[in-house]
Amino acid sequence: MASKNKQATWGGRFSDGPAALMQKFSESVSFDRRLAPFDIQGSRAQAKMLAHTGIINDEERDAIITGLDEIEQEIAGGNFSWDESLEDVHMNIEQALTDRVPAAAKLHTARSRNDQVATDMRLFFKDAAAQLQEAIRGAQRALLTLARKGETVYIPGYTHLQRAQPVSIAHHILAYVEMLDRDVTRFAAVSDEANICPLGSGAIAGTTLPIDRLFTARELSFVGSDGEPRVTSNSMDAVSDRDVFISFAHACSVFGAHVSRLSEDMILWSSAEFGFVHLPDTFTTGSSLMPQKKNPDAFELLRGKVAQLGGIYQTLLTLVKGLPLTYNRDLQDDKPPVFAAFDLCMTACHVLQEMLPGIEPVPGKCTEAVSDPLLLATDVVDYLVRKGVAFREAHHVVGALVALSEKSNTALPELPLDKIQNISHQLGADWVECFDIAGALARREEPGMPGPEQTRSRFDYWSHRLA
Ligand code: ARG
Repeated sequence: MASKNKQATWGGRFSDGPAALMQKFSESVSFDRRLAPFDIQGSRAQAKMLAHTGIINDEERDAIITGLDEIEQEIAGGNFSWDESLEDVHMNIEQALTDRVPAAAKLHTARSRNDQVATDMRLFFKDAAAQLQEAIRGAQRALLTLARKGETVYIPGYTHLQRAQPVSIAHHILAYVEMLDRDVTRFAAVSDEANICPLGSGAIAGTTLPIDRLFTARELSFVGSDGEPRVTSNSMDAVSDRDVFISFAHACSVFGAHVSRLSEDMILWSSAEFGFVHLPDTFTTGSSLMPQKKNPDAFELLRGKVAQLGGIYQTLLTLVKGLPLTYNRDLQDDKPPVFAAFDLCMTACHVLQEMLPGIEPVPGKCTEAVSDPLLLATDVVDYLVRKGVAFREAHHVVGALVALSEKSNTALPELPLDKIQNISHQLGADWVECFDIAGALARREEPGMPGPEQTRSRFDYWSHRLA
């Protein structure tokens, strides 16, 4: 069963190679090959450092770097032949390099795959976090476009999915712009957490050879805001730490929750029962049976797909929680969930960016829904409070007005003045002004409120921020 060992890198002490099944079972190159650009970047820095400290000479360094450049191009062009029997991305690249550059046999000096994979992933996270921040900005811009269309389109805001108080579509959609902004902040924090160089930790206990960790850290841009290179402080921690994986998955799952809530709102809003918006044909589908159907599939798929993200976060936590220090092969499986989370979040951003600007508010339906005067019952309470009535008493008075309106089957503002003054003599003829929606919103101009001035200033702020 066992094939002759092709594992030149670690095969020295083995008389038999791994079983074919073991090879298939244990390989990771099928998924970790996407780390190739980072692995090559790390190897270039390693070669420069080895020459810098005199472990290799400048000719050897240059030959290694030229070889790495070639391999990088082959990989980018899809011309590199990956070999599963070489296990992972690190050994595939090292083998290909050694085949063409004899000096490459020295490249792995004072380095282990454990610190290689830790370094590669930190480089990956910095790149992924930057890409996601940019992609989320794109989704925010799309939200902004939609919000602008709803600046003067009023709808009921909901609590418990029951009509609560009037807001503009703009204020509702801008809530998501805020949420996504926190996601950007979260990914920036992930990037900062990733920004520390583990290279030089060796397999577990560093090396006896003269290396320069600050040199490689600087070479790989693991540099703090103070301009100083940042390196890990404990070799055992450095090769087994997967915290940033978990932080990344956490950031992805919170982002996913935001996407899912937005999707749910748009699915509701586009239903006949709400009818607040029309979704673009380009992101909806029909039914094979019911000719009238226009289904919000893109939002449903987003809502469904992001369910994975919480699972990925849980997977990574569970993966590390029982592991003794330091590296354990279990950790090889930390990568597929991370890549899946990244890919899904990027796709979600792209779908939102393209779909959201195609959504059109339906002012007629919105006006109809928001015209229920009960939505402004709270404003009548505030009216009474302005007249000096205690809030609790005012709340009670308006409760009685609502009951009278229901009992007499008369809309709140149509209740006769004498009847309402029986309930509270503080109610004057001007109380009907409470039911003017634009007026009600204009009275809400403290920071964060849905007043038109506030909304305009948020538009200014976001157009500036997202420009
Ligand atoms: N492919 C391995 C991983 O992703 C690289 C590290 C291998 N280290 C080891 N000691 N076998 O975890």
